[in-house]
Amino acid sequence: MNVSQTFPSTRLRRTRSAPWSRALVAETSLSPQKLIWAMVIRKGENIEEPVASLPGVCRLSVDRAVAAAREAKTLGVSALALFPHTSAEDRSASADLAFDPDNLMCRAAKAIKDAVPDIGLMADVALDPYTDHGHDGFLENGEIVNDLTVDALIRQSVVEARAGFDIIAPSDMMDGRIGAIRKGLDAEGFENVQIMSYAAKYASCFYGPYRDAIGSTGILKGDKRTYQMDPANTDEALRETAMDIAEGADSVMIKPAGAYLDIIHRVKTEFQMPTFAFQVSGEYAMIMAAAQNGWIDEERAILESLTAIRRAGADGVITYFAARAARLLNG
Ligand code: PBG
Repeated sequence: MNVSQTFPSTRLRRTRSAPWSRALVAETSLSPQKLIWAMVIRKGENIEEPVASLPGVCRLSVDRAVAAAREAKTLGVSALALFPHTSAEDRSASADLAFDPDNLMCRAAKAIKDAVPDIGLMADVALDPYTDHGHDGFLENGEIVNDLTVDALIRQSVVEARAGFDIIAPSDMMDGRIGAIRKGLDAEGFENVQIMSYAAKYASCFYGPYRDAIGSTGILKGDKRTYQMDPANTDEALRETAMDIAEGADSVMIKPAGAYLDIIHRVKTEFQMPTFAFQVSGEYAMIMAAAQNGWIDEERAILESLTAIRRAGADGVITYFAARAARLLNG
């Protein structure tokens, strides 16, 4: 573009002068369809248990999650992403509960699909809600072992697909898991189940409240830097994404979102894949904490943060704000 635009013939404030005009020239749109609602589930019945570090988010028992799914459908939210709270006594070194077809995730998926068949359901795949050390894979001699973990992730994915999940979303960051899971799903007749890979997932402090929500706080030993990415890197995010696409990912995700808008932009521009971003628990918590102190406007912060993620190049956003934002957008 090499057109000279000079004042006073050009006045950029003209198109900003009225709401109708700003709406007409807006380059980025946000709508409930572009949102995936991150939701934490727990066992029991008729329970909505507040998560202290995520004001406004509750761990929902399955019946309440079904009610939330109905609400999401009414609001126009496209899909739900479920994450299970697991208490310490249900965890083990071998993460057995992850492969139990009657576990909380599977029961929730069946109940939600029965009640609201046409909402998308996304399953987190990783062992961290089930291990007694809170890591996403198996721990041997102080190391998170890759290939044995991948075998387990295949089993976990198949169990989740069988329960009715539409999208399998591996968040573990093991090498080679997308291809292995694709093969495993196909072998069991789930060739139409999608895979959304957490392609570029960073070792981020912004997951803190999530670990609280799923019961990993105090359990996690050490950190996840031997498998999640270094926040200093961008080229590596492209390599991760390229490999996941080659292995059969239907869509890719960048996580966290707000501090990684450059990565979202680069991945979308480079690959033109369906690209998603996860506005993670810490991003939610920061907005809520500042709003509760009266330091920022809560509703504007919700919509501005989501719009920015879309503007960077995300086709859709996984967020704990999904229902809230949808209500705001629907007026
Ligand atoms: C782990 C997982 C994490 C999240 C989703 N799946 C955190 C982690 O890697 O420890 C984070 C979600 C959030 O912070 O909202 N498999």
